[in-house]
Amino acid sequence: MEKEKKDRGQWASSLGFIMATAGSAIGLGNLWKFPYLAGQNGGGAFVIVYILIVIFVGFTIMLGEITLGRATGLNALGAYRKLNKKFAWVGGAGILAAFTILGYYNAVGGWVIKYIVQFVTGGVSGDSAVFFGEFISSPIEPIIWALVFALATAFIVWKGISGGIEKYSKVLMPALFVLLIVVVIRSVTLPGAGAGLEYYLKPDFSKLTPAAIVAALGQVFFSLSLGMGCMITYGSYLSKDENIEKDAFIVPLMDTSAALLAGFAILPAVFAFGFEPGVGPSLMFITLPSVFAAMPLGAVFGLLFFILVLFAAITSSISLLEVCTAYFIDEFKWSRTKATLVLSCAIFVLTILSSLAMGPMANVLIFGKNFFDLLDFIASNILLPVGGLMMCIFIGYFWGIDNAVAEISQNGKFAFRLKGFWTVLVKYIAPIAVGIVFLNMLGIIKF
Ligand code: TRP
Repeated sequence: MEKEKKDRGQWASSLGFIMATAGSAIGLGNLWKFPYLAGQNGGGAFVIVYILIVIFVGFTIMLGEITLGRATGLNALGAYRKLNKKFAWVGGAGILAAFTILGYYNAVGGWVIKYIVQFVTGGVSGDSAVFFGEFISSPIEPIIWALVFALATAFIVWKGISGGIEKYSKVLMPALFVLLIVVVIRSVTLPGAGAGLEYYLKPDFSKLTPAAIVAALGQVFFSLSLGMGCMITYGSYLSKDENIEKDAFIVPLMDTSAALLAGFAILPAVFAFGFEPGVGPSLMFITLPSVFAAMPLGAVFGLLFFILVLFAAITSSISLLEVCTAYFIDEFKWSRTKATLVLSCAIFVLTILSSLAMGPMANVLIFGKNFFDLLDFIASNILLPVGGLMMCIFIGYFWGIDNAVAEISQNGKFAFRLKGFWTVLVKYIAPIAVGIVFLNMLGIIKF
């Protein structure tokens, strides 16, 4: 029993939980994906829709997941199974999603480390598109950097909840915000930054297509780490003295602030040097290095920027690995050491394949997608929305709002001010919104 408890672990403080949870949420999704999605989908208009979805769907599912975790004290699958056997598969799908996401997340984390090394030695000179293209398509080098990233992730998870995840998040998260603000100040004070600010802040509703709304919803799930039991797992290490309503409010607030700041860090600088904002995924790895190359003291700001990206990525990758680790510790009574080791190796097989998909295996297509895009598609577009939808249905109609409310308020100890609002959201608004967007994505309904 004692050993089991030790392998599971618990948060040492409320602040530690908030930092770890915000660390999970704030990641490549905020710094890499959000600015390019905003760049592609009408700037300010996308930002407004994104914020609305965070308030109505993000907060709702965040609170629901943390509640399930704390109520059961178990991993994603164990939590659902304990409450209702028929829903165990929802947790299982979540664990599969964590496995899948980490498969390609490691690869991108490796690219970030490569860029840090590059900026230490002076930055990316010459054509940044050629530099990036040659790097990610080479067979061996990106895999080595991904391995460094995966080892760092495994190390922190192996150190446990309070001694690993909490300890590192408490340092890395504040550092990330400081670095981010430094880069934002540099970016918005560049001559010519105004055009970028205008683009970012002035909504162009004509660009707000249904596809943009689908993208915003998918992004909310990904960015807040929702729909796969990550928050169930993190919630399971919480004590009953924690006011989780407050946490489910603060974490999305921090996550959204980080995403908005990332936009302020990137878009004004991109405009100031005359680059295109809507280039997509290559914005961070191709456009930004050129921006830094053109900027006074660019190598310093480039280095700071990629260090903050690494901090964000690592506090997210540990949460993905922890979802898998917790399952094997709870259900198979594995030690933390064995779980971290075995799972990291298994996930790294996917990482190797995703990395090779950028080069030697670029022509190996499954459902028309390379392996990297396939993993992202399965996780972000299918597993996460289904997981979020099922969670709402489960809490709203099976486990019951009353049980959830009793857990959140600890039978009256906490006020749970948003009870009425949350109830309507969980039962009706969030599942309907996610359901419509999901059916649209699959092409079953069209608007
Ligand atoms: N939220 C992280 C990001 O923005 C990624 C992430 C970590 C995640 N854990 C997750 C996404 C769980 C979905 C589910 O980069």
